[in-house]
Amino acid sequence: MESSIMQGASILATGSAVPDLCVSNQTLSQIVDTSDDWIVTRTGIKERRLVAKDQSLVDLAALASTRALNKASISPLEIDLIILATSSPSDLFGSASKLQATISANNAIAFDLTAACSGFVLGIVTATQFIQNGSYKNILVVGADVLSRWTDWSDRSTCILFGDGAGAAILQACPRHENGILGFQLNTDGNKSDQLSIAYQEHFAKTSLHEILNIKQGFFQQITMNGKEVYKFAVSKVPASISKCLQSLNISSEQVNWLLLHQANERILNAVADRLSIPSSKLISNLEKYGNTSAASIPLALDEAIKEDKIKFNDLIVISGFGAGLTWGTVIIKWKC
Ligand code: ACO
Repeated sequence: MESSIMQGASILATGSAVPDLCVSNQTLSQIVDTSDDWIVTRTGIKERRLVAKDQSLVDLAALASTRALNKASISPLEIDLIILATSSPSDLFGSASKLQATISANNAIAFDLTAACSGFVLGIVTATQFIQNGSYKNILVVGADVLSRWTDWSDRSTCILFGDGAGAAILQACPRHENGILGFQLNTDGNKSDQLSIAYQEHFAKTSLHEILNIKQGFFQQITMNGKEVYKFAVSKVPASISKCLQSLNISSEQVNWLLLHQANERILNAVADRLSIPSSKLISNLEKYGNTSAASIPLALDEAIKEDKIKFNDLIVISGFGAGLTWGTVIIKWKC
């Protein structure tokens, strides 16, 4: 890949933010017929954070972004592009521009990217293209979701899984030989889109304003998921995507230092690591504290792993996202900080 790029791209800094409100499995068992034991055994999740009613997706995304900017010691005015990966924007037209204004990144273009739990991986890959082809120098990629606002809190099969959060990464141009975003592998299977969705419910608009207004309008429903099918999809397709990506770069699974998967379910994380013969000691996992935070889960776990000093200079990190769409994909990073 290096010969075809104009400049390298690497992650300069990360940041993250979660709401203060922490809801334990014990508390959830007062809302639906479940138990701490069932949730921990089947998912590994112990608690999750839920956004307060006066807090927005943009508040969380802005906090994570500001933390990343501070760590990178760069001004928001130096950001050329903001990509906000989210499936729960505050505005259907997108929330990235509101984020741009909130952090005063006045020189940045900003757009939303919707790809559910794969959103952050797609955001990193998209940003990398803009940097490697020489278009931009500094890009802020944010993964943020507040799925608590779209969760059916009476459905025990889904409400135990999700939490809210935001994570951010600043990608910067660097010399070609220092390129840190080594390669990627992306996939979509729209035939299975109904296995996990927040569907749009249409009905005929009741208006007598004019006969030509015989149109459908509607609203979005709450999350529905075929858990078993999503589980099977994840444990088969994610290892295949990772293997393909490693192979294309001539990297063996023994050379991988860290495996960072979308934090959906501890059993999925372990099954994927097993299939790749990567020891579980190389798995980055924080889902027991936050559950599945959708597009936020990977940058949130990455930021925590960096804060805990796990990731060292030149470490190889395999990052894989998967979820609604269905979408899944891998990006392989050499850590350059
Ligand atoms: N508490 C207690 N019992 C429960 C609960 C609960 N919260 N939820 C379901 N059950 C019951 C079911 O009713 C069922 O009972 P039955 O045998 O009497 O019918 C039994 O437990 C088993 O249910 P299953 O659905 O078969 O449970 P499973 O082992 O498949 O675990 C789970 C469910 C955790 C959802 C699992 O299927 C899973 O993790 N799937 C993947 C989800 C995922 O990774 N999503 C990622 C993408 S997210 C995104 O893109 C936004």
